[in-house]
Amino acid sequence: MSDENRMQEMGAVLQRMMDEFFSIQYRYSAAMKEVQTKLEILDDEFQLRHRRNPIHHIESRLKSIHSIMEKLNRKHFSVTMQSATENLKDIAGIRVICSYVQDVYTVAQLLTSQDDVTLLEMRDYIRNPKANGYRSLHLIIEIPIFLRDGRMLIPVEVQIRTIAMDFWASLEHDLRYKAAGQVPENICQELQEVGRDIAALDEKMQSIHDRIDSIVATETESTR
Ligand code: GTP
Ligand code: MG
Repeated sequence: MSDENRMQEMGAVLQRMMDEFFSIQYRYSAAMKEVQTKLEILDDEFQLRHRRNPIHHIESRLKSIHSIMEKLNRKHFSVTMQSATENLKDIAGIRVICSYVQDVYTVAQLLTSQDDVTLLEMRDYIRNPKANGYRSLHLIIEIPIFLRDGRMLIPVEVQIRTIAMDFWASLEHDLRYKAAGQVPENICQELQEVGRDIAALDEKMQSIHDRIDSIVATETESTR
């Protein structure tokens, strides 16, 4: 095949992927909105019961067509939209940033115990951090969305972490991007150490929070 033909063929594959993606991306947006609403409701209810918000903020993103194609290639799946919907569970992604470590697990438990939410996969990178120091709780859930022709189950990746873990992850991501994957070994080690420092800070903040909580509980008890 000539170079020109090959280019034309690649252009056609890309165009078909884009057309197909635009015709189904609303489903992933719908699933993302459903999950975001569920999380906001949980946060509101928690605020009413405990007078504080476990969720600091929520971010969401739809995987770009470019990243979908890159990932299908990297994982040796065929580069079609059907293959993407079958093989990629992170086309819709939600990131939940919590105040305290305990909140991460509380939010995960409350979300996955809802009866229209199915937990497909859980990876606990907080208890088992990645070698580079990355910490987060990753869930792949499936939730129904309701379309004209009925119910459809859509997977959503939910990453839950503390503000401190998010601080590490976003800076590490930028650094890795800037260095184009060529981060020197000594810097990798320092990043790993910073990850451990951050985990220690999270533990301290959790302990401070728990002690304040029990002081407030004792005072409330004694004024009854
Ligand atoms: P992907 O092919 O990237 O989806 O990886 P995976 O399918 O093996 O899943 P994994 O749970 O390892 O990672 C999924 C997502 O978590 C990534 O797309 C990132 O958003 C985030 N993540 C995972 N590892 C790291 C990391 O080392 N640093 C940062 N900053 N983010 C990470
Ligand atoms: Mg993934």
